[in-house]
Amino acid sequence: MTFHFKESLIKEEVKDDLLSRGYSRRQMMRTAMMFAGGAAALSVSGEAALAADDDAAKGMVRIGLNECWAGPMEPGLKAGMATLAQSNRYSPNGENEALVKTISAIENVPADHIAVYPGSGGILSRAIVAYCSPTKGMVMADPSYNNVLRAAKFIKAPIGLVALTSDYRHDVKAMLAANPNAGFYYVVNPNNPTGTMTPMAEIEWLVDNKPAGAIVLIDEAYSHWTTDYPNNTATHLVRAGKEVIIARTFSKIFGMAGARCGYMMAHPDVIKRVALFEGDRPSVATAACANASLTAKALMDSRRNELIANRSLTEDFLKKRGLRVIGPSHGNMVMVDWKTKTAKEMGEIYKARGVQIAADRWPVWPTVGRISIGSKQEMQAFIAASSKILT
Ligand SMILES: Cc1ncc(COP(=O)(O)O)c(C=O)c1O
Repeated sequence: MTFHFKESLIKEEVKDDLLSRGYSRRQMMRTAMMFAGGAAALSVSGEAALAADDDAAKGMVRIGLNECWAGPMEPGLKAGMATLAQSNRYSPNGENEALVKTISAIENVPADHIAVYPGSGGILSRAIVAYCSPTKGMVMADPSYNNVLRAAKFIKAPIGLVALTSDYRHDVKAMLAANPNAGFYYVVNPNNPTGTMTPMAEIEWLVDNKPAGAIVLIDEAYSHWTTDYPNNTATHLVRAGKEVIIARTFSKIFGMAGARCGYMMAHPDVIKRVALFEGDRPSVATAACANASLTAKALMDSRRNELIANRSLTEDFLKKRGLRVIGPSHGNMVMVDWKTKTAKEMGEIYKARGVQIAADRWPVWPTVGRISIGSKQEMQAFIAASSKILT
């Protein structure tokens, strides 16, 4: 099927904005297609796209995509199902607005500083388009969450990849030096794939020293998993009116990756700018589920404790096998250096034993692979397979 996308479908203000920032007409059309669907969207839309390619994972131990081992929390499930039953209405009880209100109360950020999206991946790619162009670059750590890289490559923005420090923090000074005039600096905290944290003072340094008009996007997809949450988040920078975006997702601790829900917190002008290419909102059932999950603090605590136990089990096993484990990881993943084989080769070897791990996604570290932390049973299955593999 040929996909025809007409320039007349792009709003005049969007055209003006992109053309004035150095996009050619052709690049503008490509960018519009990125959000309009089709093959282009798949290349930038995140873990969800990787999962779409991944039918083979059915029936396997699925510890390759940083998903949660369990589904939505009980109160979320109950609220989501009740709303699904009323979803003959487009918005039975203002579910998306109610979700924003809850986020606002929990984060202590005004409601007009919050926007919900069907997953946080769409926030990241929209922010790239809003703040980068073929002449305005983006800077990120390497290894980090590569979807942002794909979006930047797609619009042909100059890219700065900066090695993590020797203790796996973002090297914020080197990031600024890599492109002192970038439009977008990306900090993932805790980082994916390493799970390691960058101290808040260093993120604040980047925010205070970046060029005016550029944005620092702090991706806190994994922050709920950390024991210091919420004291280690960057929400105060939004409150202080800094040029930052905080991105969060319900795909991780809340177990809602397939339900698609995420949100951004930023100044209202930034929210408007990112919404240049408008996106859909989460379905009402998803919004209701997310809303009821956010306040389930005791359930978050118990999931976090389960993660910590299962992560220790996995790390201890790998270390006893003499392998170098990157860390400390504060997220639901660990990286391990397989040393004698590439991550791609190890991915195939585990796959043959019915275990899906992340393979071949971070070329900067060819022999290092990522293992997502699943349930105790899943990690025991990983250990059993590893005992046969790592002889
Ligand atoms: C750091 C980071 N940000 C964003 C996302 C996107 O999550 P989603 O689009 O499911 O909200 C992911 C997914 O794994 C991630 O690891």
